[in-house]
Amino acid sequence: MISKENFEKFIKKTLKDRKFFIVTNRAPYIHTKTQEGIKVTTNAGGVHTLLDLVAQASNAIYVAYGSGNADKTVVDSHNMIPVPPKIKSYILKRVFLSKKELENYYYGFSNQTLWPLSHAVFVKPEFHTSWWESYQEVNRKFADSILEEIGNKKAFVWVNDYHMALVPKMLKDSGKDIRVGMFWHIPWATYEIFRVNPWGKEILIGMLGSDFIGFHRGYQVQNFIQSVQRMVEAKIDFDQSQITYKNHITKVEPLPAGIDYQEIIDIKKNAKLNLKKHLNREMGTKIEYLAVGVDRLDYTKGLLERFHMINRFLEKYPQFQEKFIYYGIMPYSRTHIPVYRTYSKAVIDLCEKINWRYSHNYWTPIHLNNEGMSRDKVITYYKNADMCLITPLDDGLNLVAKECVLSYEEEVGMIVLSKFAGAADDLRHSLLINPYNIEQGADAIYQALTMPAKEKKERNMKMRNDLKSKNIYSWAIKFIEKTLYE
Ligand code: G6P
Repeated sequence: MISKENFEKFIKKTLKDRKFFIVTNRAPYIHTKTQEGIKVTTNAGGVHTLLDLVAQASNAIYVAYGSGNADKTVVDSHNMIPVPPKIKSYILKRVFLSKKELENYYYGFSNQTLWPLSHAVFVKPEFHTSWWESYQEVNRKFADSILEEIGNKKAFVWVNDYHMALVPKMLKDSGKDIRVGMFWHIPWATYEIFRVNPWGKEILIGMLGSDFIGFHRGYQVQNFIQSVQRMVEAKIDFDQSQITYKNHITKVEPLPAGIDYQEIIDIKKNAKLNLKKHLNREMGTKIEYLAVGVDRLDYTKGLLERFHMINRFLEKYPQFQEKFIYYGIMPYSRTHIPVYRTYSKAVIDLCEKINWRYSHNYWTPIHLNNEGMSRDKVITYYKNADMCLITPLDDGLNLVAKECVLSYEEEVGMIVLSKFAGAADDLRHSLLINPYNIEQGADAIYQALTMPAKEKKERNMKMRNDLKSKNIYSWAIKFIEKTLYE
């Protein structure tokens, strides 16, 4: 296993005098004004959690949008602040956006154009010129913020996700000595879907400023290359997985992200909560089986399908009534976008209906927590689970799935996972389902809860060994090597 220390050494040896930058839209740390003064919080979940760990081990400059209401108060004249608060191992450089930019670039083009366009879930993407214009302007802002810090030095920039598609080309066009790697963390649609985007070609050309582009799964790479082939006058070498556009070579490969194996093992060691006992005491129930799910309230996560599965499971296997609880950590997300509000309401209505149907004595089958939770606490919840239920209709990776497998007890826990999550490749010893197949999902819940301890252990150990060897640091090393040398 590659440790954090190995990674630190690798960075020093490999990047030498190149300044190292990481850029994501959402920042790992937020400063907020409260009655007790300014507080720092972390944003649990998401790509920034992963890259925070990489930044901590590499002395990076991390560039991201400053969304906290006290973010401006605490930064220096370059909009910078050392983080994490106690360790101060790297610099967070904040980019500030106006309400209008947020509306058009983040809620608009990123999350109502590119997000639904990239996920095969049948939500129609919207195309507005004003959103596209703002997207270009904000990408320029991010690129300028990085270029300002590079000055005359050499640099390595790790650009992340669909909010930043144009940044790679903007960086390269500066003429500075910058190696640019881009990681696209969400799926990439087939050409027949992608081609409807009126600015698709510009998006592709923007990304082709990168020296390397990584995706979580092989089919996403193929879809991307096919879009380039059909929309850009570029030369494609399929054997080498390489695209040449205007004399610049971009390598494109699948490189599924790993998690910090050791971090989770350490958090688990200190996790003392007995969630089943706690819930039983609080509710006066005698539950024996606890299923856990952690998702943003997003239409790509297959939440309606998940609750239909639970409904069918309780109907088909009534012996589990009053013994089974699903505990869902499901923070609201992107609520400014109408389809998210409608979806959230539909999910909560469905849960209410199911709870009404089955509730008996003090027992109700579904328990929801719509607040965000600290990372340590979330891992404590997974640790207590008899099963995790993760059912996205389409998902770049799904980090939660990998974290669950590492967190629950190996002879107790099992994961039911959608085969449409990127993580399904690495977690092929889980119980894989098609989330649209409710009957299959209900049976998989039953199978997970009744699986002999020996089989659970065998499956979990296979997955854990994989998670250990392909951890976050080996992922980051491969990403950096591919961007630097290929
Ligand atoms: C997706 C993106 C991540 C992002 C997450 C949360 O999974 O790939 O980069 O962190 O959504 O989205 P939000 O809009 O809340 O940042």
